[in-house]
Amino acid sequence: MKKFKVAVIRGGKSAEREISLKSGMQIAAALAARGHAVTEMDLSPQLLIDLLQGNFDIVFLALHGRYGEDGTIQGMLELYDIPYTGPGVLASAICIDKAMTKRILAGTGLPVPPGTVVYQKNYDRNSKAEVEDILNQVDLPVMVKPNREGSTVGITLVEEVSVLRTALENAFKHDSSVLVERYIQGIELTVPVMGNSEPEALPIIEIVPKNRYYDYESKYAQGGSQHIIPARLSEQITKTIQELAVQAYIVLGCQVLSRIDFMYDTNTESPYILEVNTLPGMTETSLVPDAARYLGIEFGELLERIISLSLEHR
Ligand SMILES: Nc1ncnc2c1ncn2[C@@H]1O[C@H](COP(=O)(O)OP(=O)(O)O)[C@@H](O)[C@H]1O
Ligand SMILES: [Mg+2]
Repeated sequence: MKKFKVAVIRGGKSAEREISLKSGMQIAAALAARGHAVTEMDLSPQLLIDLLQGNFDIVFLALHGRYGEDGTIQGMLELYDIPYTGPGVLASAICIDKAMTKRILAGTGLPVPPGTVVYQKNYDRNSKAEVEDILNQVDLPVMVKPNREGSTVGITLVEEVSVLRTALENAFKHDSSVLVERYIQGIELTVPVMGNSEPEALPIIEIVPKNRYYDYESKYAQGGSQHIIPARLSEQITKTIQELAVQAYIVLGCQVLSRIDFMYDTNTESPYILEVNTLPGMTETSLVPDAARYLGIEFGELLERIISLSLEHR
């Protein structure tokens, strides 16, 4: 492959800063090992000046969450005609917002967990009415989660009405809108999808968390969760879920690479799409690199494919 001048942007100010620093470090090391000229940069007021002066072939976005995965930096880079990795402004901005993503997916007939969205200003005005409203719309147990924060920050599994308020108030610490969704009992799956005009699903990853759901500890602690690739599903269900992932990717306007999170209800044998990650974790042991490795694509090669696809679609 041609050798590129790459700026890896990591850090930022979302709740996922620490993970981003780790992704960035490993991306930079792997690209440098393959002969690319790599500079690591943090999100700072100086960043744009450094980028413009550096004359980079591409910016590799190792950012997660708000101010990184949400279309803001993508918009800035578009304005200055600087190529970057991953989906564009629109898909990034939609997917950072779980409620908006679900509306679009549901509107195209794709399966999402039933639920409702609660806005802090309404809750502050009349919390009793909001709680009644929630209970009328969705049966317990429910997952309560901030709309726009990743990495399982501020999430609670609510099995009894008595703790619903605490869960809502905890989630409101992270965002002014909160999702209350039916808790889907079953298997946790995630599906990487790659490509531009003809996107394809990678093998499905089954996540077996140590704790009851894929919380912060399960995601990032050593031995916090186990990845099983390919997921232990029948050939037919595998195909169905991969197709759903590709459809979601297309409907949301994703490009290059995204990772679609699912819950598979083992009782009803129904898959549900939870959310779409437009800049999924990219350490060597993250989910997407694991799925790529199953296909024989090593970490460094995966990063080069991301760069090629990103340059191709611009
Ligand atoms: N409706 C749900 N039913 C069951 N588990 C859920 C549900 N929503 C979220 N979870 C659990 O919480 C984790 C985080 O939720 P997710 O929507 O993927 O947000 P994020 O990864 O951005 O924190 C999931 O990986 C899953 O383990
Ligand atoms: Mg997730």
